Amino acid sequence: MRLFDTHTHLCDRAFDKFRDRLMAQIAASDVKICVEVGWDFASSQAGAALAEKYPGMVYAAVGCHPHDAKDFSEKQLERIAELVKTHPGVVALGEIGLDFYRDNSPRDVQRYWFSAQLAVAKELGCPIVIHSRDADQECFDTLKASGVMGKNRVQIHCYSGSAEMAKEYVKLGANISLGGAVTFKNARRPVEVARSIPLENLMLETDCPYMAPVPYRGKINNPTYIRLVAEKIAQVRGVDAEEIAEATFRNALDFFGIEYEDKV
Ligand code: NI
Repeated sequence: MRLFDTHTHLCDRAFDKFRDRLMAQIAASDVKICVEVGWDFASSQAGAALAEKYPGMVYAAVGCHPHDAKDFSEKQLERIAELVKTHPGVVALGEIGLDFYRDNSPRDVQRYWFSAQLAVAKELGCPIVIHSRDADQECFDTLKASGVMGKNRVQIHCYSGSAEMAKEYVKLGANISLGGAVTFKNARRPVEVARSIPLENLMLETDCPYMAPVPYRGKINNPTYIRLVAEKIAQVRGVDAEEIAEATFRNALDFFGIEYEDKV
């Protein structure tokens, strides 16, 4: 089985004490590729450096998360754009979006940098990683109005909205990414999405160190747990985990424009 974790935060300080050991564990597992996602400028640079250290196994997405929007700057956005344009390990802009659940940055500041980063992504034509929490309709409307849908490849990461909205996103060509939440006991919505989304629009992620799947819920998540997400989605759809793993692996390669050859 080969698995692709489309959303990791391996540069998070939760991994500081055992990052090298974890990277060795990932290398020895079925997880062949991770996309390391930046949440601010420093973590974006760190993600690009991690991609350099583990070529072919780690790629990076760079951008400013809505939580960190209050500390972002025009200068940093220029350098983010530069990374997307020139760094061979950087495959997407993200994660960007709106988070009205925590409101760690004022909403107008979130909106400003979401739109500014979408404009840059549109110009560059790169894949985009979207974070949306308690802001589903506004995020959808912003994306639609920005002109990136159908032009850029768009991933709705850790999708938590309704199955109806997932269908609308798919109509506009977006990919839906599911993680540990599908395994949670009261996961009615993510399970409905996992069941109904076309396989060609589905991707898998851990969002580690967050969102660890059952039976590790509440613990530090890591990419090797993504197998549990694949198994749960397979169970919900009545197919083999192998089929989900392989289809989502190929979807992710296409999405990020990554060429991969199995080492024999
Ligand atoms: Ni994330």
